[in-house]
Amino acid sequence: MSRSLRTDVSKDEAGADMWTGIPLFPDSASTMAGRVDALYFFLVAVSVFFSVLIAGLIVFYAVKYRRRSPDSVGASFHGGMALELTWTVVPFFITIVIFVWGASVFFAMSRPPDETLNIYVVGKQWMWKFQHLDGQREINELHVPVGRPVKLIMTSEDVIHDVFVPAFRVKADVVPGRYTHLWFQPTKPGRYHLFCAEYCGTRHSGMTGEVIVMDPSEYQTWLSGGAPEGSLASAGARLFQDLACNTCHRPDAQGRGPVLEGLFGKTVTLQSGETITVDEAYVRESILNPSAKVTAGFQPIMPTFQGLVTEEQLLELVEYVKSLKSLPQPQGPQRSSRVGVESPVPQPGSRAGVEMQTR
Ligand code: CUA
Repeated sequence: MSRSLRTDVSKDEAGADMWTGIPLFPDSASTMAGRVDALYFFLVAVSVFFSVLIAGLIVFYAVKYRRRSPDSVGASFHGGMALELTWTVVPFFITIVIFVWGASVFFAMSRPPDETLNIYVVGKQWMWKFQHLDGQREINELHVPVGRPVKLIMTSEDVIHDVFVPAFRVKADVVPGRYTHLWFQPTKPGRYHLFCAEYCGTRHSGMTGEVIVMDPSEYQTWLSGGAPEGSLASAGARLFQDLACNTCHRPDAQGRGPVLEGLFGKTVTLQSGETITVDEAYVRESILNPSAKVTAGFQPIMPTFQGLVTEEQLLELVEYVKSLKSLPQPQGPQRSSRVGVESPVPQPGSRAGVEMQTR
């Protein structure tokens, strides 16, 4: 690392570090960092304990039972129930502790909280592109507020990449053709390294960036600084018109394609009789490969948009579909819990949604 990212972080924090001056360890800057470190140190401690114990016993017995005269012959032993039970049962319980502890950390890492700030990530050789819901785009820099859970919804334009933020102790593959997720909750403002952790070609080592964690008020200022292009959902709405999707997907159920209003997060029945929950991956697949999972009651007449839309445009369309709330029903507005809770999407052209998200 030729440049230090620690310069913006106060000297006190660096000094309080037990590894003062020796950057053996990255910062601890997320809610997950302490948990991951605790498990890691436990594993190191168990390994060190048994390595020292076994090596020590080898040396000790080698000396104690050394050959004392040229014609001495060792006594032979068979069995030792207590000993064998001990070295079976003790490691069994230790490995169970490791399993349960590891699984609980894994579950915490893989299940984002209900309310997250969602940010889209597209990896390509060799850069990271970030898209905020209300329109800001960044390359190799990601601005997030401190203290809020952030969920990255990620895909790749070409090969497999991998987002790795050591200070947050999070890492996840970014895979072409699908969406993967990663979440973290930053705990202190600062600038932190972002790496690609999957070999992806000649400039893999240069595929780095920074996560900039800001105070909520600063973040608010940053957020309102840009966005000339409008929200992601409104860009998706324009694209939806440009691609003439609206000729078949009409809100009045008279179109040749399913009504998209209120669809996101719902469970739909397919022609095959299977059911599927409408999530980002399903929307994406239905745009690129519409005949793969056709909704029951519809003909497989939709053309593919493979090659016609970029990964970023796909995200805009996904975000547009997410933003389409159910039309008012006579018995009151329907709300999908998933749409309402997980992704408070701003309505195109409105700032209200943005404010709700950034609080
Ligand atoms: Cu992208 Cu390595």
